[in-house]
Amino acid sequence: MTKSITFTMLKPDAVKNNYTGKIIDHVLNAGFSLKAMKYIWLTAEQAGSFYAVHKERPFYNDLVGYMSSGPIVAIVLEKENAVEDFRKTIGATDPQKAEPGTIRNLYAQSIEANAVHGSDSDVNAQIEASFFFSKFEQF
Ligand code: RTP
Ligand code: MG
Repeated sequence: MTKSITFTMLKPDAVKNNYTGKIIDHVLNAGFSLKAMKYIWLTAEQAGSFYAVHKERPFYNDLVGYMSSGPIVAIVLEKENAVEDFRKTIGATDPQKAEPGTIRNLYAQSIEANAVHGSDSDVNAQIEASFFFSKFEQF
């Protein structure tokens, strides 16, 4: 099976709580490899643009404020079936509903401060990776 990419961010709560190392270790142990990684503090404008798909959702403004409240780690990951397998590895959006042993079950604080982002499709993985890393621009 050919490998594909997914994109993740370790969100401000995970970075502030010093879970960066533990989460990266968890991701590597789950069989993903790191293709690109960047430690960065997003402006509200950048966070708003990244999550523009959620513009009409009631939680959008809070989400933008939250995602620009502290540094994040942006990472491109590679694996077979990367998008779907990574969603399984991180667990449900609401950590209360996340399966035991998933990253959100282990490290998330709340439905908003839920430790990590994971792309929801191959197309979005490409768009999101390209948002942070020029190497992943479509050509
Ligand atoms: P993500 O995109 O970050 O991987 O999360 P997701 O697919 O599991 O969830 P999504 O529906 O795409 O929501 C994006 C992020 O918005 C925040 N959120 N807050 N307060 C709320 O009810 C609420 N719902 C979602 C979370 O940070 C969620 O990950
Ligand atoms: Mg999402």
